[in-house]
Amino acid sequence: MKRILSGIQPTGIIHLGNYFGAIHNWLALQKKFDCVFFIADLHALTVYQKPEELRRNTLNLLKIYLASGLNPDKHIIFRQSDVQEHIELGWILNCVTPIAELERMTQFKDKSKQHKENINAGLFTYPCLMAADILLYDTDFVPVGEDQVQHVELTRAIAQKFNNLYADILKLPQAKINKISARLKGLDNPEKKMSKSAASEYNYIALTDSADLIRKKIKKAVTDSGSEIKYGADRPAISNLMTIYSLTTGLDFSQIEKKFNGKGYADFKSDLAEQIVKFTQPIQKKFQAVSDDQAEKILSDGAERARKIAGQKMEQIKDAVGL
Ligand code: ADP
Ligand code: TRP
Repeated sequence: MKRILSGIQPTGIIHLGNYFGAIHNWLALQKKFDCVFFIADLHALTVYQKPEELRRNTLNLLKIYLASGLNPDKHIIFRQSDVQEHIELGWILNCVTPIAELERMTQFKDKSKQHKENINAGLFTYPCLMAADILLYDTDFVPVGEDQVQHVELTRAIAQKFNNLYADILKLPQAKINKISARLKGLDNPEKKMSKSAASEYNYIALTDSADLIRKKIKKAVTDSGSEIKYGADRPAISNLMTIYSLTTGLDFSQIEKKFNGKGYADFKSDLAEQIVKFTQPIQKKFQAVSDDQAEKILSDGAERARKIAGQKMEQIKDAVGL
């Protein structure tokens, strides 16, 4: 069976962009692939995190994974920092990755602008650690949002370079994107991706937002000029809202257009808010039902299973490089 692997950083909120760009796609893939899902807590350190919050956010993200329907009985779910091989291989890959490649990375450029006071070396070499995450498990596919494709491409280049230098033992992975949900846009600015690091919380809807807050946020979401509910490249705001409508209801764009034919933005928005509430409420209920102890237990079981695979691979790699 082919293997997929993916992870999210535990940096606070999970918004609809993260959910539909990543987790939602993983659910369907669980049926067809051998899956490894993890919580990228080491990656989160590239932006300063308060220790207590990082611990809390890690458990909460695991609860979101479970509440969304990821299955820890069948697949491996773990916390990155529990498996030390990630750091070990990360270092080796640091030593084969050209600085010039890292300098091209859009996420590095964006985050250095956002966090001018803390442009640390980890932020720069982040893709080497991400490459280690992927390569340790002989991953075939990496399901992520569009913003991460550049990192997966670089992972391939790093693996290729390693294989040429040492031994042909690293498998070249491929990014796997869902076209519709690959890049949800901000509610307050449909030109840019929905992001938890946006200046205003009106940019995104978090999976854990209350029904009232969801209604408020959708009401405030910017719209295009005109009044028709119609999808099109020249109408980025309504197209983004229609994408969210489609993802939460399963209707396609022409069905949505038909449903709201003759109606205006206000009707559409109030229905959209209710669809999002209906979609998020069961996830919130399940989230509340998982205890911290259950979450910890799942993480420690997952780490044990992950270490078995990562440990074997690491021995092969160390042998190849002469360590
Ligand atoms: P953020 O960019 O909000 O800090 P992360 O970097 O933790 O989020 O991303 C976690 C996952 O969510 C990645 O797979 C990423 O590609 C996906 N993702 C993030 N933002 C979006 C978005 N606006 N649309 C679709 N997918 C997204
Ligand atoms: N870089 C990803 C993000 O910011 C998180 C991540 C770390 C990841 N390692 C990974 C995703 C390996 C997929 C595979 O969202």
